[in-house]
Parts: sequence; structure tokens; C-alpha cells
Amino acid sequence: MEDSESVANTAAGMDVPRHIAVIMDGNGRWAKARSLPRHAGHRAGVKAVRETVEVAAKRGVSFLTLFAFSSENWQRPQDEVSRLMSLFLEALQREVDDLHRNNVRLRFVGARQQLRPRLLRKIGAAEEKTKENSGLNLIIAVAYGGRWDIVNAARQLAGKVAGKELTVKDIDDERFARELALVGVPDPDLLIRTGGEQRISNFLLWNLAYSELYFCDCLWPDFCEREFDKALSFYGLRQRRYGHTGEQVEAV
Ligand code: IPE
Ligand code: IPE
Ligand code: MG
Repeated sequence: MEDSESVANTAAGMDVPRHIAVIMDGNGRWAKARSLPRHAGHRAGVKAVRETVEVAAKRGVSFLTLFAFSSENWQRPQDEVSRLMSLFLEALQREVDDLHRNNVRLRFVGARQQLRPRLLRKIGAAEEKTKENSGLNLIIAVAYGGRWDIVNAARQLAGKVAGKELTVKDIDDERFARELALVGVPDPDLLIRTGGEQRISNFLLWNLAYSELYFCDCLWPDFCEREFDKALSFYGLRQRRYGHTGEQVEAV
């Protein structure tokens, strides 16, 4: 689809997802195809992040959640992990002022205590600086795993029951979700995964229950406005039924 066409679709009132979650995959393969080290792929991926944030804001998306580093990614070679952490720090240092100027509110989710103190401090400062912004909500998942999130929520609830703050009967879907990392954020309407794999890889296991899933072969560093709009077009063609029949949905 041509860019002009997709812009026209959006302008014509095509349903824009309120929350898009992205599994940014394919950096290593992008680098390998160019005989470059893996970290060169991660570096190239930062550019795609910048472009995606801009397009998401432009298209009127309210929440954008990017999977930057999973609980399982700690198992990668130490050199790759260390370079990734340095890259996060560097990107944060470079981009925060620009994000702030563009009214973006930044938030990080994941097992923070696993991160280096310096990165942790930058994250805290970036969240603090942008907390009053009213534009795009940009959520970065670092050291995040869907199972970690659910286990953490279960622990919080168990602690509250043990402390008599809650009873077992108080626990329902809504109460459970309030202990998850994305508390207060609507569930993703659309999940995009680049890099050709069709799996969730322990991303937002709870929150993706009814998300539309879009997989593309494009490697993350090549992701761009055109690819983003292809995902939006895919989303625009879905009928979201949440367990109802198609006829029921059409009736409302
Ligand atoms: C995604 O790209 C980035 C992270 C997981 C940090 P990969 O590094 O997984 O790239 P591939 O899948 O090896 O190509
Ligand atoms: C998922 O990609 C995690 C991120 C994009 C941060 P992986 O490359 O780690 O996923 P698998 O190992 O192929 O499932
Ligand atoms: Mg990968």
C-alpha cells in the first residue's frame, strides 16, 4: 500500500488502535546479513524506535509499548547483554529531551532491580521529567517477562491477603490486573512482531488476551512508517468479537 493511501485511510476515520505493543525482533539477523556484529543491529534498531514513536504519535495512538529486553535475554552472551545495557543508557541520554519536547510520557516496566544502578537512575529521571506530559504514552519493557509479571501480581495479592488487606473473594480479573506492570493502561489492541517469528516470547501474557496479532518478516532495523501503516491496515480489517458472534457485534 502506498503511504498516501494509508494516510487517507487514517484520515477517513479508519479505526486507529489505542494501544499498540511491539516485539522488536530481527536486529541480530539484520546485522548478520551485512556481516556486522549483533550489536550493530541493535544500534540500527534504535533508529527504527525513533521512527516508530514519531509515526505512532502522528497517527493518534495513545499507548505504545515496546519490548526491548526480555527476562530470558539475560541468557545471551555477556558481551551482547552489556552492550545492550550501554545502548539503552546512551539512547535514553540522547532522546529524553526530544521526547519531552514532543509531549511524550515515558514509563518503564520490568524487573528494575536487575538493572545497573546508573541505568536505573536515568530511567527514574526520565519518568520523572516526562510524567506530566499528555501526548503519547511510551512504555519500554526492559527485563520484562509476562510470567514474571503474573507471578509478581500473585505475590502482591497473596501478601495483601496474608496481611488481611484483602480477602480471597476480592480477587477477580479487574483486581488482579491492578497488580500487573501495565496497571491503568488499556490492553493492547494490536501486537506487532517483526522478524518473521510468530510467537509471543513471554511478552504481555495477560494483557494480550484479546489483542489482534500482526506478524511481519521485516527485520526490526528496517521497520518504518510504511510497515507501520501496513499493520494499521491489517488492524482496520479485523472484527473484534471478544467471544460474541459476528452478528451480535454488527448489531451494536
Ligand atoms: C531483538 O532482536 C532485540 C532483542 C531481543 C534485544 P534480536 O537480537 O533477537 O535479533 P535476532 O532475532 O537474533 O535476529
Ligand atoms: C523477544 O525476542 C524479546 C524482544 C524483542 C526483546 P527474542 O529474540 O528474545 O525471542 P525468541 O528467543 O526468538 O523467542
Ligand atoms: Mg530475536
